[in-house]
Amino acid sequence: MAHAVYRCRSCGYQSAKSYGRCPVCSAWGSFESQPASSGGGVLSAPPPLRLADLPETALPRLSSGLDEFDRVLGGGFVPGSVLLLGGEPGIGKSTLLLQVSAQLMRRGRVLYLAGEESLEQVKLRATRLGITGDILLSREMELSAITALLAQVQPYFCVVDSIQTVLIDGSGGGIAQLRDSALGLTQAAKAAGCCTVLVGHVTKEGAVAGPKLIEHIVDVTLYLESAGLFRLIRCNKNRFGPTGELGVFEMREDGLIQVDNPSAAFLSERPFGVAGSVVAATIDGQRPLLLEVQALSTRSPLPNPRRVVVGLDSRRVDVIVAVLDQHLGLPTGNLDLYLNLAGGLRVQDPGLDLPIALALHSAITGQAIPADLAAFGEVGLAGEVRSVSQGIRRGEEAQRSGLRALGPPGVEGARGVRSLGEALRALHPPESSS
Ligand SMILES: Nc1ncnc2c1ncn2[C@@H]1O[C@H](COP(=O)(O)OP(=O)(O)OP(=O)(O)O)[C@@H](O)[C@H]1O
Ligand SMILES: [Mg+2]
Repeated sequence: MAHAVYRCRSCGYQSAKSYGRCPVCSAWGSFESQPASSGGGVLSAPPPLRLADLPETALPRLSSGLDEFDRVLGGGFVPGSVLLLGGEPGIGKSTLLLQVSAQLMRRGRVLYLAGEESLEQVKLRATRLGITGDILLSREMELSAITALLAQVQPYFCVVDSIQTVLIDGSGGGIAQLRDSALGLTQAAKAAGCCTVLVGHVTKEGAVAGPKLIEHIVDVTLYLESAGLFRLIRCNKNRFGPTGELGVFEMREDGLIQVDNPSAAFLSERPFGVAGSVVAATIDGQRPLLLEVQALSTRSPLPNPRRVVVGLDSRRVDVIVAVLDQHLGLPTGNLDLYLNLAGGLRVQDPGLDLPIALALHSAITGQAIPADLAAFGEVGLAGEVRSVSQGIRRGEEAQRSGLRALGPPGVEGARGVRSLGEALRALHPPESSS
């Protein structure tokens, strides 16, 4: 019986099945169906390679010109890699990439494909950002034409703004089309050896419908999001480095400006000497950050008092409220409680338990927490303070901002407390609170 055979146009590898990406030479979309071989379907395979025989290579990196961005990328762009930058409309994707283009045009040709805006709009933005350099612009969004442009211009860096505006044979818009565009662009970019960023629009409701579908195709996935006054870049996937890093920027008239000390920036507006405010030494992804946890309590007229939690995990807050009630004799049954992680971030970190507990205790009792304190630690059901990841880095971040760290026992540089009760006694010694 004749078997269907597929063959890679690029390296000649044959297989009984077709691959989107050749497992041997990594070419994209290179498989074509072949007539069955006369040998009755006997397939050829390249001999396997010995790992030890492969040359050792260090990944070169291209700096984006923004340290905060380079940190998220794991040291900068890897030449020839393909990235996806997702984000809600108006968040600053085009601004960021125009700034990066201006930086990289010093190293080689930069091609910016503007499918979303007229070239006049791009020029206006460039003028506002103070960019005068030689960036090549095009509004050509047909996939075959982009492929030809990449081969012809051989850019060093290319921006496709956006993947949603790329057309295949004159049409665009569908989900399958999006994937095909991403595959085609990736193949063209790899063939041209050009580091390419695909911009992808994400909406709050449809986050999974668009760019999520092409995450597996690209090498690196980045998301730009807003948190209050700030813009954050996160890396969800990185074939060349760690994920979980966070870059913090501020949007100004002259573009996205990196925030060198995010902890200081996020704490800049906190009130002093006010009950309910506590600095938390938290970790967002991989990055230690000092953020203010705020709590407010009021007597509730409702049979089921309100619990309003913003930026924090409300289930953890429920647990902490129960612990305060059971182990510290702090009844909350008739109180409305409001909790907020100031600055607009949403952080999932068990290390926020202790600051949440201290903020709630402070709000309910009216005793302010010392302003030079940064707390961290998980709170267990028995009221014990438990270890959390990266304790030392949390303590160091507190020290960098001139704050005293309070956390679980055994963390160098932090005052250790074994329980919530011990933490409160450390903050409010009996003689000073009477
Ligand atoms: N003159 C200005 N001063 C300060 N900020 C500005 C100014 N003009 C624009 N911005 C900021 O730039 C943002 C738009 O940036 P940009 O066009 O890069 O976003 P985008 O993510 O590419 O948006 P889109 O989804 O429309 O392509 C605005 O939302 C605004 O915050
Ligand atoms: Mg844009």
